[in-house]
Amino acid sequence: MIDKINALRAEIAAINTATAEQAEALRIKYLSKKGAVNALMADFRNVPAEQKREIGQAINDLKNFATEHINQLRECSQQSVREFAHIDLTRTPAPVRLGTRHPLSLVREQIIDIFRRLGFNIAEGPEIEDDWHVFSSLNFADDHPARDMQDTFFIQRNPDVLLRTHTSSVQTRAMEHTQPPIRIICPGRVYRNEAISARAHCFFHQVEALYVDTDVTFADLRQTLLYFAREMFGPETKIRLRPSYFPFTEPSAEMDISCNICGGKGCGFCKHTGWVEILGCGMVDPNVLDACGIDSKKYTGFALGMGVERITNLKYRVNDLRMFSENDIRFLKEFTSAR
Ligand code: DAH
Repeated sequence: MIDKINALRAEIAAINTATAEQAEALRIKYLSKKGAVNALMADFRNVPAEQKREIGQAINDLKNFATEHINQLRECSQQSVREFAHIDLTRTPAPVRLGTRHPLSLVREQIIDIFRRLGFNIAEGPEIEDDWHVFSSLNFADDHPARDMQDTFFIQRNPDVLLRTHTSSVQTRAMEHTQPPIRIICPGRVYRNEAISARAHCFFHQVEALYVDTDVTFADLRQTLLYFAREMFGPETKIRLRPSYFPFTEPSAEMDISCNICGGKGCGFCKHTGWVEILGCGMVDPNVLDACGIDSKKYTGFALGMGVERITNLKYRVNDLRMFSENDIRFLKEFTSAR
């Protein structure tokens, strides 16, 4: 008999939600004259006299518990009807305003994605740097005029603490800690002490790539550049390499692509030459490899560096550099559908 009572109690306790109608049905099922609790009374008659007290008490407890539990279920259901009655579940929800990705982030991701497919991994370095990583290790002699090519911000009048002027510093950091093969891509922000105008800013973004291994040649560099240019600007894109000078590469070159606006015919954008410059590159100077602890007799490498703003300008025709950092929402919205 006790088992029966406990089973019934467990059954009622397990019910934890009910509408008002369901609560009424439960009351009838368990507590009415013909309900389950009353049915126990019929058995009660057959309980031996010495157990009557204990079992009678248990049936009473069960009855109280069931009454209270079912009342509670009814109350909850009424409360929730009251609480949520004013909510119109059929109403169309307000549209969610989605933000857009910043054009520089979009283009940076596109560049990284292309190099990732060639097996390059991302490497990062600090924006506050020292002279060694930004200049000396990269073959800038102390009195070399090339240091003036990049107007450096120094911190606290200390010539050894500065904001990096290019992401080539990440090359040094990678080579200092790793032996070849090294195949890295280094995206990041760089700083130069320039007056802010449509064409120059005191900070901008670069992506650097470095590949060092045995037998890396200029042909590898050229092919990598061609692949990059065609992935970025379309399969018809042509490239052209012009000799140039950077302290950390020998030989050095600048790469132009066929103007993606006029297709190479000549227009205002490419100053009627049919070509636009997009990046600097070259074979890593053996002095740089040696300075970073890599045997320049055994290994060779190529490096390249490009400005993300420049590539974005070519892809999306953003001609004024200042727009990238003004956070004008109308400008950012232009890129809603860009990928
Ligand atoms: N660091 C150069 C700059 O900021 C860009 C560059 C040129 C990077 C040639 C390279 C390179 O790795 O090989 O103007």
